[in-house]
Amino acid sequence: MPSAYLHVDALNPQPGVIAQAAGVLLRGGLVAFPTETVYGLGANALDSAAVEKIYLAKGRPSRNPLIVHVLDADQARQLCDWSATADSLAAQFWPGPLTLVLPRRGPIPDIVTGGGPTVALRSPAHPVARALIAAAGAPLAAPSANPSTAVSATRAEHVRSALDGKIDMILDGGQTAGGIESTVVSLVGDRPRLLRPGLVTKEQLEAVIGHVVVGADQDAGEGVLPSPGLLARHYAPHGQLGLAPDDGHERALELVRAGHRVGWLRLARDEASARPFAVERMKVFVLPADAAGYAARLYDVLHELNAWGADRIIVERPPLGEAWLAIHDRLTRAAAR
Ligand code: TXA
Ligand code: MG
Repeated sequence: MPSAYLHVDALNPQPGVIAQAAGVLLRGGLVAFPTETVYGLGANALDSAAVEKIYLAKGRPSRNPLIVHVLDADQARQLCDWSATADSLAAQFWPGPLTLVLPRRGPIPDIVTGGGPTVALRSPAHPVARALIAAAGAPLAAPSANPSTAVSATRAEHVRSALDGKIDMILDGGQTAGGIESTVVSLVGDRPRLLRPGLVTKEQLEAVIGHVVVGADQDAGEGVLPSPGLLARHYAPHGQLGLAPDDGHERALELVRAGHRVGWLRLARDEASARPFAVERMKVFVLPADAAGYAARLYDVLHELNAWGADRIIVERPPLGEAWLAIHDRLTRAAAR
């Protein structure tokens, strides 16, 4: 049976639509919904059987824990050992694209945390996500709404084309603004650790809480793969993606001549170069030269190249520097084979 597909106003979600979606969640079903980062695939976080369906629908390994979405710090406190550092970060960045990993306490079942002693919590800013958590009256476990290792969804159509029939309902609230996933910070060890770079930058975090270590503490068994040597293939488009050492033009043309369907992602340098153009068997995308603008476009472009059937994707290497950490992380994982 196809998934129910409902349009919802992203700024003022219709109470009737939200009530229907909350009903699905309270009956143990799965609802995909927009957040300010990417679309999430939600279940009632307190219902193990419902959360199990998330892993099935995504084909996700069950040791990879899920983010629990809450309305605010008060709701988060009921699910973890909250801390002063968590308080500072939440005051600055919640609601918003920051996920905090804290010692788990209270009613969150094992299946949400991969059986581990910690829980990841985020208070989303998107009005639809917030209305849904409020109407369900429960925290929502929600990974990104894509098959495991595929590119995350920034539009409801991306969710439908990948997961139709595998989930109960899709709420279409238009394109998501952030475009890549939240920043994940662990507050479990003696020092804050950046487990996944995201829309909140390391610099922004450090302005609030001082030095943040990059990468997981392997000894503490923090679940996220931290270093290039351990990179998981993730965020992967259908076509093989390669990071060019330069702007990638020569490589892209070479692949077209060799008979490939090629996507070429380059950086906007000036007004003129900001206009996309296409030659046969090559689609060119000119992405914004600021990290936030680039993030907002990246997955959308990869989905478009999937739909067009690109078998090779060449990406001009984006600038270095902390603002671009999340982009490099996603591109490197997308390139991993
Ligand atoms: O922006 C986002 O964070 C989106 C939206 C839907 O909120 N969600 C998202 O979820 O990206 P997901 O499941 O695709 O990524 C969750 C990340 C994974 O890298 C997971 O390993 C990590 O958070 N994570 C979850 N629980 C954790 C825990 N207890 N300890 C360490 N890492 C955890
Ligand atoms: Mg994901």
